[in-house]
Amino acid sequence: MPKVRFLPAEEEVEVEPGKILLDAALDNNIKIDHNCGGNCACATCHVIIESGYETLNEMSEDEADMLDEAENVAETSRLACQCKVTADLVVRIPAKPAGLDDTV
Ligand code: FES
Repeated sequence: MPKVRFLPAEEEVEVEPGKILLDAALDNNIKIDHNCGGNCACATCHVIIESGYETLNEMSEDEADMLDEAENVAETSRLACQCKVTADLVVRIPAKPAGLDDTV
């Protein structure tokens, strides 16, 4: 089964192939914001794929549009609710801008 390592926590989980990345995180108590409930309408589930980006399903136009709204976007940014896991990944959950981080 594919393994996904989440940074910066360094937590690694095994994921059923084809599972949505956001669900894989939430099922393993790894916090990724998802204000719209995984409907590609908020960009709060933005993550940066540090390894395995090319193994993900293609980005839709809607996802690209939503990513335009996200902070700290990188070349390998994706929305976790729109990615299917099919192979090993390393995924960075970006820090929220000051004032929006409710984990402190
Ligand atoms: S949870 Fe809203 S875009 Fe992914």
